[in-house]
Amino acid sequence: MTGAVLAQLDAVPPQGSGGLQVQVGDVPVGLFRVGDEVVAWRSVCPHAAAPVCVGAVDGTRMPSAVYEYEYGRDREILQCPWHGWEFDLRSGEHLAAGSAARLRRHPIRVEDGRIYDASRGNVIDLPLTVERLTKETDRILVVDLVAAGGQRLPAWTPGSHLEVVLPSGLVRHYSLCGDPRDRTKYRIAVLREADGRGGSEEFHRVASAGLALHATAIRNRFPLPLASSYLLVAGGIGITALLPMIEVLRRKRADFRLVYLGRERATMAFLDELDCIPEVTVVESRRTGRVDLRALVRDAAPGTAVLACGPDALLDELRTAVADAPQPLELRTEAFQPLRVGLVTAPDRPDRDVSVTLAASGGTIRVPAGTSILSAVRAAGVSAGSSCEGGWCGTCETPVLDGVPEHRDTVLSDEERATGDTMMICVSRAESAGLVLAL
Ligand code: FES
Repeated sequence: MTGAVLAQLDAVPPQGSGGLQVQVGDVPVGLFRVGDEVVAWRSVCPHAAAPVCVGAVDGTRMPSAVYEYEYGRDREILQCPWHGWEFDLRSGEHLAAGSAARLRRHPIRVEDGRIYDASRGNVIDLPLTVERLTKETDRILVVDLVAAGGQRLPAWTPGSHLEVVLPSGLVRHYSLCGDPRDRTKYRIAVLREADGRGGSEEFHRVASAGLALHATAIRNRFPLPLASSYLLVAGGIGITALLPMIEVLRRKRADFRLVYLGRERATMAFLDELDCIPEVTVVESRRTGRVDLRALVRDAAPGTAVLACGPDALLDELRTAVADAPQPLELRTEAFQPLRVGLVTAPDRPDRDVSVTLAASGGTIRVPAGTSILSAVRAAGVSAGSSCEGGWCGTCETPVLDGVPEHRDTVLSDEERATGDTMMICVSRAESAGLVLAL
């Protein structure tokens, strides 16, 4: 993987004891522990541009001439020393009613006890070899991949997907569904879709032990959050994204439940291992009919994180059920197929010219209406990865250092859109007159 080492993981103080300041180019960044995770915030107050990452503080208050604060906080905060603006350590939100300000997150990757800068994306250049194939069902092939050179593989976390270049040059994304602790192999599962776009057909046609493939990125747009309890919902092959989460939750003795929906057992993968787990319910729609997702959600305890991967119809139904639920729930979803092509957010107004500054490469380019930022960046001689170029795969996600993106993708959640930390440059444009991108 690419990316400079920012710090040793051990150097980040324990939660509640402040953070570690590092510098990424011109940008000061604070690294903080929150639960099991390390979060990285750009140490720049969005209001006064003063450094905010002076340490997590608990239960303090400074007066502000701009916003009225309540005294005391029951959570760790970061604080701007200029006007006293306070930011939640976990979300980066400004803790004042009516304020939409947020700190900007800096992308990092934690691997082998080190924290890496991931602002250029988790790009890898990794030749792989198919080690083993297992026919899980008539249409699902489980594939074990090892590094062609036999070396240890880059680390990943549950919810990640692997970007793979097939022999024909098609680029496809597959959820990693093996054990993240096993650095000797990656496991993916490929569902053959006769009416798909050709990638799964090709994979099933050419796959054999010894086949050479190439991995170009590992991305996690579906991480496991910290929560008091979990409800996991898998539809069909969407089980692959959730399998590694189950293992983590079991090891942590977390309170969780997985509902695995499929047409019938003969079409459902990984049943041998899932049948032995008491927290797993397998539902065959052919036998029992549709699941009452509203009832499922209604029964979840307040604060439950609902994680779902499956077809769009299932995810849409869950979104409605969670929105209507009386108790607060956190919903995270991942669609396993690009059914949202064509549903990319329609612009509210015609395209306008955008001025884009490329922070890493230097220079500012003018992106005329009708030209994507991705195309303009490439035309300027700067390389930028892409796959779908339709706003749904996440490959072209690019950190935004300044400016306000106008998001037109279907990858980012509402929360991620609100932070404006990253954008899909294949489709999205700008609300502000200009953008500064980490390219
Ligand atoms: S290339 Fe797929 S979202 Fe931009």
